[in-house]
Amino acid sequence: MKHQHFFAGCLAIAATALGIGSTGAQDTIKVGLVMPMTGTVGAAGQEVAAAIKLYMAQHGDTVAGKKIEILLRDDGSVPDNGKRLAQELIVNDHVAILGAGTTPSAMSMAPIATEAKVPTVVMISGTSVVTERSPYYVRTCFTLGQQSGIIADWAIKDGSRKAVSVLSDWAPGAEAGKVFEQHFTAGGGQLLETLKVPLANPDFAPFLQRARDLKPDTLFVFVPAGQAGPFAKQFAERGLDKSGIKLVGPGDIVDDNDLNGTGDSLVGVVTAGFYSAAHPSQLNKDYVAAYAKATGGKRANFISVGGYDGMHLIYEALKKTGGSADAHKLLAAMKGMSWESPRGPVSIDPDTRDIVQNVYIRKVEKKDGEPWAVEFAAFEAVKDPLHPAAK
Ligand code: PHB
Repeated sequence: MKHQHFFAGCLAIAATALGIGSTGAQDTIKVGLVMPMTGTVGAAGQEVAAAIKLYMAQHGDTVAGKKIEILLRDDGSVPDNGKRLAQELIVNDHVAILGAGTTPSAMSMAPIATEAKVPTVVMISGTSVVTERSPYYVRTCFTLGQQSGIIADWAIKDGSRKAVSVLSDWAPGAEAGKVFEQHFTAGGGQLLETLKVPLANPDFAPFLQRARDLKPDTLFVFVPAGQAGPFAKQFAERGLDKSGIKLVGPGDIVDDNDLNGTGDSLVGVVTAGFYSAAHPSQLNKDYVAAYAKATGGKRANFISVGGYDGMHLIYEALKKTGGSADAHKLLAAMKGMSWESPRGPVSIDPDTRDIVQNVYIRKVEKKDGEPWAVEFAAFEAVKDPLHPAAK
């Protein structure tokens, strides 16, 4: 007995000296985020990081008795950096959970997450195949397919018959175009041509000119977060906003982060998207106000909610496991989880680990002098249509 007390005392002193007390290493859960903070899609990483910071400011940095420590790494929008940074976060920093960003980076990280058995929350990538790349991947953002079929069906109903697609030339663009074409042609429409715009430093003008020359009644456009502003500017400069050609797309082309600065050029544009800062729930109004306050007046956008909900998923999963960061317990807790997001009700499909969410049809309207994507119809609990399980 005496000896046990003595050793316990020594351990307590040693622990105090090392600084491992109630908030020590064993009580800290490290979350490693690999985000594009700079480079081509740098705006997206910053939006996710801002939303995560906000979530933690609102909910505290302790959950189920564990202190949450965020380790944010910038992949510079360079795909291979994702792999290296994920490796470093796992081996050197001992993160228990990872957050992945855009498609190329998330793809490169997948084998590392699988090998090290690290649950990874995908917060930006909208490409279907990403969640199949690792059984440890869970997605809280969106897929392009989820939105692109719905807008094609809407366009057909609205009288569109001849479309041209203008797509940012990378995986999410290819998927947006594929699902749009499937639905548009199944509805009796004709896709006249698909034009692919380089992802980095895009000059939309020649593509918009070519699209106009083809005389479509509808233009289907996908540009990623951060490019809606430059796109809208060139769209208006070419006079396309007054050409009578209907512009449609997934929500990315009316990104709330850019929409503010587009004046009248996107007014009337209809998109199918899962998030609008104008979503009329009280939860969203509070989110938009808090995000603006935390970011010096920025509008919360569709990318930010992927990060906000990603953090929510991590917190709620840890509550369910009683603070255990065991990978299989965490994944089991995440699968099937449902909650109310600023975007509306969402859940994680237990079979595919992918987000199930409402997709809204929205029209850009001016309210109090600013353009907003105003929702006027909702499709509930939409799954990714490209996942093999959907077939
Ligand atoms: C992606 O990484 O797949 C991605 C990024 C930004 C978007 C859409 C998709 O707006």
